[in-house]
Amino acid sequence: MALDIDFVRSQFPAFQADSLQGQAFFENAGGSYTCQQVIDRLTRYYVERKVQPYAPYEASRLAGAEMDEARDRLAALMGVASEEVSFGPSTTQNTYVLAQAFRKFMKPGEAIIVTNQDHEANTGPWRRLAEDGIEIREWTVDPQTGHLETETLENLLDENVRLVCFPHCSNVVAELNPVTEITALAHAAGAFVCVDGVSYAPHGLPNVGELGPDIYLFSAYKTYGPHQGVMVIRSALGALLPNQGHVFNGDVLYKTLHPSRAGSRPDCRQRRHGGLHRCAGAASRWTVRRAGRSGRVRA
Ligand SMILES: Cc1ncc(COP(=O)(O)O)c(C=O)c1O
Repeated sequence: MALDIDFVRSQFPAFQADSLQGQAFFENAGGSYTCQQVIDRLTRYYVERKVQPYAPYEASRLAGAEMDEARDRLAALMGVASEEVSFGPSTTQNTYVLAQAFRKFMKPGEAIIVTNQDHEANTGPWRRLAEDGIEIREWTVDPQTGHLETETLENLLDENVRLVCFPHCSNVVAELNPVTEITALAHAAGAFVCVDGVSYAPHGLPNVGELGPDIYLFSAYKTYGPHQGVMVIRSALGALLPNQGHVFNGDVLYKTLHPSRAGSRPDCRQRRHGGLHRCAGAASRWTVRRAGRSGRVRA
């Protein structure tokens, strides 16, 4: 079926913005413009449902139901169970929290494999575990081709390796890695697998259940969505990892891998980009209050 490009463009209001005419963006690492459906959901959330979810009144019930809907629909698209989908502020922060769980889960002398084909997000948090006696082994690319060769990985794998981290698609050399083949090798050696899908997901959400990794991460805000990171943790691994969330949230997998569930709200991004823009809007609001509503204030 041919892609109806006019229909696709009509879903994105940015194409109608005068200030953006005549420009093309090739920088989705900085975030992609959202489609109208995302803007409509965010607007409704801000206007009607920005309350503590899951309480017995209508706005709260709807807020909670919409959060559940997001998890259910993404889980169905990715071929995993709803409770295996976590939301957090960004992929970097999701990985960072996950690494804290592994810091407790692993023993000194055990090993993690990272690559030099990854974004810092999927190596830095893991490399820091060396401070606690975890051995970090680097799976390096072939300097001629940029490929991560599976024979090189086989030489790094042994019974001490608990985790293998690599990108689905590399933002450094645009390599598409064979996730299923690599996962099978790691699993055969008794290791779990963590895949950074940030560069891949904008081209189509994968069926993570069929691909097979234990962890799969991507950034919704680079995939036409809101400022959030999405993380799949398969339940067999999730059951082994210590809770990083509030103590009273330790019984449900998707609540355990971010310190506060506020990170799963639809507008969440604490670090930069959207989060800061929203604070600029909030500053306008505070300025209005100080001005006693008399002054004109930038939006
Ligand atoms: C391939 C890749 N992985 C991970 C990240 C980190 O994602 P986030 O900005 O959501 O922390 C980026 C950011 O540009 C990226 O390009």
